[in-house]
Amino acid sequence: MTEAWSKSAWRAKERIQMPDYPDRAALGAAEAQLAKYPPLVFAGEARALKRQLGEAAAGRAFLLQGGDCAESFAEFNADIIRDTFKVLLQMAVVLTYGAKVPVVKVGRMAGQFAKPRSAPTEAMGGVELPSYRGDIINGFDFTPEARVPDPQRMLQAYTQAAASLNLLRAFSKGGFADIHRVHSWTLGFTKSEDAERYKALSDRISDALDFMTAAGITSDTMGAMSTVDFYTSHEALLLEYEEALCRIDSTTGLPVAGSGHMIWIGDRTRQPDGAHVEFCRGVQNPIGLKCGPSLSAEDLKILLRKLNPENEAGRLTLIARFGAGKAGEHLPRLIKAVREEGANVLWTCDPMHGNTVKSASGFKTRPFERVLQEVRDFFAVHKAEGTIPGGVHFEMTGKDVTECTGGLRAVTDEDLSSRYHTACDPRLNASQSLELAFLVAEELSQRRKELARKAV
Ligand code: PEP
Ligand code: CO
Repeated sequence: MTEAWSKSAWRAKERIQMPDYPDRAALGAAEAQLAKYPPLVFAGEARALKRQLGEAAAGRAFLLQGGDCAESFAEFNADIIRDTFKVLLQMAVVLTYGAKVPVVKVGRMAGQFAKPRSAPTEAMGGVELPSYRGDIINGFDFTPEARVPDPQRMLQAYTQAAASLNLLRAFSKGGFADIHRVHSWTLGFTKSEDAERYKALSDRISDALDFMTAAGITSDTMGAMSTVDFYTSHEALLLEYEEALCRIDSTTGLPVAGSGHMIWIGDRTRQPDGAHVEFCRGVQNPIGLKCGPSLSAEDLKILLRKLNPENEAGRLTLIARFGAGKAGEHLPRLIKAVREEGANVLWTCDPMHGNTVKSASGFKTRPFERVLQEVRDFFAVHKAEGTIPGGVHFEMTGKDVTECTGGLRAVTDEDLSSRYHTACDPRLNASQSLELAFLVAEELSQRRKELARKAV
């Protein structure tokens, strides 16, 4: 029997990684205001995404999830959203070509504002201040004033999310994402071997489209080619914000998180009895669960039952993030737990969060080679286990940043300082993202060929 749920029941559970707002009256006012605002997404969309993720869990689709580590109020404009969207479209084309299945596109966008931190305080030059927890909570500047949690920031995050989603919907449905424009999604600065490979691929796609037109396939019958479905996701960390945007879906009568299509539970907040699991178990959206090295098989089993009691396809995505070289140690034991439970899950790989290191020049970075390695490990383990590698999860941007070292246009340790813009973790730049997409496409294409061989 599942226990009764309410959108505020998480408040009785242990509260971790969330701010203690000093001004309770201001917090109450912000929550009341948000609760009156329209939801950002609709339940029918969340259900459509769930169906598509169910397809990915069965190997008939593939999930591409990516975007900022943390969205910020300062780095917010149409070009940034457009360029991240372009890179995701390019990656999706490359993956579709390799996998020959639909690619489900989900942005870490329009709501990815709150960050869990490894320490509650940060020290600099002998001064200690509360840690920065994302723009929805406090400010990045290293001053005592900026670091005070301010509930008004939730309203600003909502407004930014709404404007971002509005633009993303326009890009998805308004012609920008039409496959006939496959050449136009490139970015000026991505001149590398991979940009050449992308060009060759888009030439072949254009040729195929010309052929289809010549064969009499009209734009009516090509409807699916002129728009894309694009979904949003973020970590459901700040539960005051999530609760205020939770709504009852008029079709099913069930609660739905109105803050984004998919929400996930972070590796630091996945305690089976914790507040975050309590909130997420009650909403009908697709839920992600970050699985790091410290996740035990016992806890995973409890979480599978709590988060997906009906064992619904597409409800639960397990996001493996162990670090390069560690999937062999952890993934098989977790796959075994899933098997023992007979649980329906989608396995995806986040090769970012287990591979963060401090560079010699003092910047937090991720060596690109380790990111690639973790992706290869993930595919190798699923091959050995006979299970389905159903998606990937990246921190990336369409901007030409230098935050992760390596890649074909080799970013070095010394380069990090030149264009290091992230408010939190280092992201892949557009070239690195494309390079990664080609690697994943190769893995998927090999897998497809092996399955076809076995089937004869
Ligand atoms: C994240 O995805 O930004 C994150 C903090 O990940 P994790 O919970 O896996 O550390
Ligand atoms: Co991150």
